[in-house]
Amino acid sequence: MNLILLGAPGAGKGTRAALIAAEYQIPHISTGDIFRQNIKEGTSVGLKAKAYMDQGKLVPDEVVIELVQSRLIKEDCKNGYLLDGFPRTLPQAEALDKITHIDVVIDVVADADLLAKRISGRRVCANAACGASYHVETYGGSVCGKCGGSVVQRDDDREEVFLARLAVYDAQTAPLVNYYAAKGILKAVDGLKNPPEAVRVLRAFEESKM
Ligand code: AP5
Repeated sequence: MNLILLGAPGAGKGTRAALIAAEYQIPHISTGDIFRQNIKEGTSVGLKAKAYMDQGKLVPDEVVIELVQSRLIKEDCKNGYLLDGFPRTLPQAEALDKITHIDVVIDVVADADLLAKRISGRRVCANAACGASYHVETYGGSVCGKCGGSVVQRDDDREEVFLARLAVYDAQTAPLVNYYAAKGILKAVDGLKNPPEAVRVLRAFEESKM
């Protein structure tokens, strides 16, 4: 199954993506994670992306499309994949339609106050291979309980950058909800509900198509 997870920054895409990918045994492809990894490794893609990400802006379409295109032809994608954070613009969605067929798009819905609360308190493990996520209200430490790495705030989770990301989402990504609804492949899940609810919604959607 080929899946997309849509949703505003902090809605809970990554959290649900990890569960769905494990349930369906498909790769979880997060364009944000790929860029962060490239930044850490100092690649040319990383250098290019950092300038945009630090301001809460989107990385140019051509850079992201090429990156996703080359990822989707890898062997592990042949039985399906889950795209987290791609597409984010209409040109990206149209380019994706030319590359592949998408079965379901899950829209993780959450209101702006909840997003701000989650993102301002979010801390993540700096070890990209781990990527554990914490919230200051439940864990205030600086050492990751899973791998012993450093727990830090993502550069783009600072308030001014988060507000820019939210504005970009409203202007450029939110229109994709209607784009996929018109294709009859959109399912909404409540970002407030327990993340495993997304797996249940997906299974129910599959059964309805049988
Ligand atoms: P990206 O890394 O994709 O960031 P994002 O979309 O802003 O999403 P986040 O990672 O902030 O949040 P999320 O929705 O995954 O939520 P999470 O599960 O962590 O992109 C970063 C940047 O890269 C972009 O700004 C852009 O510059 C660039 N980029 C990436 N893709 C691009 C593209 N296609 N085109 C151009 N540029 C691109 O959850 C948030 C928190 O809430 C967590 O702490 C979690 O534990 C908690 N939580 C979730 N659900 C629940 C719940 N039900 N109850 C309690 N807590 C919950």
